Amino acid sequence: MDANDLLAGIEAIGRNPGGGYTRLAWDDATMQLREWFAGSAAALGLEVTEDGNGNQLAWWGHGPDALLVGSHLDSVPEGGPLDGPLGVSSALAAVARLKAEGWQPSRPIAVVNFTDEEGGRFGVACLGSRLATGAITPDAALALRDDAGDSLAEVMSAQGRDPRAVGRADWLDNVSSYVELHVEQGRWLEPHGSAVGVASAIWPHGRYRFDFCGQGNHAGATAMADRHDPMLAYAATVLAARELATIGDRSHSRSPQARATFGRVRVNPGSTNSIPSTVTAWLDARAASEAELEALVGAIIGRAEAAALADGTTVATRAESTTGAVEFDHALRHRLAALLDAPVLPTGAGHDAGILAATLPTAMLFVRNPTGVSHAPEESATPDDIDTGVDALVRVVKELG
Ligand code: GLV
Ligand code: MN
Ligand code: MN
Repeated sequence: MDANDLLAGIEAIGRNPGGGYTRLAWDDATMQLREWFAGSAAALGLEVTEDGNGNQLAWWGHGPDALLVGSHLDSVPEGGPLDGPLGVSSALAAVARLKAEGWQPSRPIAVVNFTDEEGGRFGVACLGSRLATGAITPDAALALRDDAGDSLAEVMSAQGRDPRAVGRADWLDNVSSYVELHVEQGRWLEPHGSAVGVASAIWPHGRYRFDFCGQGNHAGATAMADRHDPMLAYAATVLAARELATIGDRSHSRSPQARATFGRVRVNPGSTNSIPSTVTAWLDARAASEAELEALVGAIIGRAEAAALADGTTVATRAESTTGAVEFDHALRHRLAALLDAPVLPTGAGHDAGILAATLPTAMLFVRNPTGVSHAPEESATPDDIDTGVDALVRVVKELG
């Protein structure tokens, strides 16, 4: 069982005509991927379990002190083929290689497929790992709604899962470290001439909902001076976000080490010849420290409020999902970097490993992405680099297992 073959086996699942992948939690594509995961793991002689949150685990051995390896199988809308599936496929391929060699682990090994890492359906990133670790309450999670208005509780029930089983997972008590292999997001390994790197840290980041509210009206009959158009404050906020993340905000003495993105917007009623009544938009913001992130988001909200006021409109904001700064376990990351002779690099992306890092020693391996593009169809790694990533994971499992 080879990682490139495993990935080829799922390349048609959830692929859109434009080549992007839409695999959202509990949709048809991720349900097929669950079956693929269970079947592939069973073919390796692993025992497959699913916790109350939908996280799938494939066990090689039982008992305490397990080493967890894996990633997730969901994607962002129109995402790439590797963000998530590369880590799961590489973990299965590594176990296959170790079994073929006759290697015997001294502790249990588990391969994981975390549910809803991207938060592409219910808005909260890393929902499966947050629930398993108790970082979000079952009530808060079950009440989340997707764009169709269905709650997580309803969606899970429709897929035959019991919403009452959602919450902190017992299996976590038997796990003492986690290693997640992931496609690189950004382009750092290519110019540094390395196929594999080890993660040092994840920037703090969050998702914030902005509800701009105005007066819907006729696009032809309403004079420009008489409008309360919420689109204008939204547009001003998008520009302010770029400016504040790029040049910083001197009043907060903040360095320009930040990112701010409005990637999702909903306009109501969404009619060409109507002034909108509401515009709802989601900001993804990230910065090098929690203080900088707070200052950045505060400054963007301040600019949104000022713009709304100027047009006689309003804006209400709330955080939907936040993740603090993550420093991966120092001893583990130095051990793996030395073992693999690999460079250590930070990541601007979020991961389940970042959630688990609050609970147990956690590390990440990155596999070179020649385009640097991620969350888009151009996300890639060469077949040779994918094999090199599996080699690295095999060495890590042997070292730790
Ligand atoms: C996940 O990839 C994220 O960084 O949002
Ligand atoms: Mn992602
Ligand atoms: Mn990912």
